[in-house]
Amino acid sequence: MMRLDKFLCETGGYSRSEAKELLKKGNVTLNGQLEKKAEYKINETLDTIKVNGIAMNYEKNHYYLLHKPAGVITATEDNRHHTVLDLLDGIDTRKLFPVGRLDKDTEGLLLITDDGELSHRLLSPRKQVEKKYYAILRDVITSEAVSRLEHGVDIGDTDITLPAKVKCLNEREIELIICEGRYHQVKRMLQAVNNEVKYLKRLSMGSLCLPDDLSKGMFRRLTTEEVYKLKQE
Ligand code: URA
Repeated sequence: MMRLDKFLCETGGYSRSEAKELLKKGNVTLNGQLEKKAEYKINETLDTIKVNGIAMNYEKNHYYLLHKPAGVITATEDNRHHTVLDLLDGIDTRKLFPVGRLDKDTEGLLLITDDGELSHRLLSPRKQVEKKYYAILRDVITSEAVSRLEHGVDIGDTDITLPAKVKCLNEREIELIICEGRYHQVKRMLQAVNNEVKYLKRLSMGSLCLPDDLSKGMFRRLTTEEVYKLKQE
């Protein structure tokens, strides 16, 4: 159960005062009846609430897929830099956070949500959710380097990295799949094989892929199917 004005804010993105105004003006119906009381307690899963005749669907959690551009930082707030949340134009970001982090200069897929449980599961080392990256390298990638990455490399942590999957696109471009999320992991792995990442982009995280038609800096909500599949990871 929740207050009607809170429901309107959470589903419609209205501010509290906008929600109260809508109610006062008689724009809101509850199960077909006009309802003006902001404090009225509704059942968000059973009741049908309409604003100007349009049904508002309650979703407990919110899921956004952002095509992160370089230059913004993966944080919820920062005094000096733009954050990934600043890119979610028109969305109430107060409860949202990024799932994992991409470096400032890394581009690509970033999941942003308010679902702590899903985030925890996707990042858990035990679950070993695969992350696929596209990287442009400083030097030609050797078959010896590929073999070392595929077996696990020493990047200065207690343990060597788990085996990665490597696909060479050409001499200096690779796709790399890892199932951990250590700090600067891809860059450090390439450093460990005497190379350097010049450009890095995340292409997927588990079943969630960066769509070809989502331009840099743009975002969209996840589909119900995408959320369902992620929860199965
Ligand atoms: N590995 C990196 O080195 N950087 C990222 O942003 C993501 C993975």
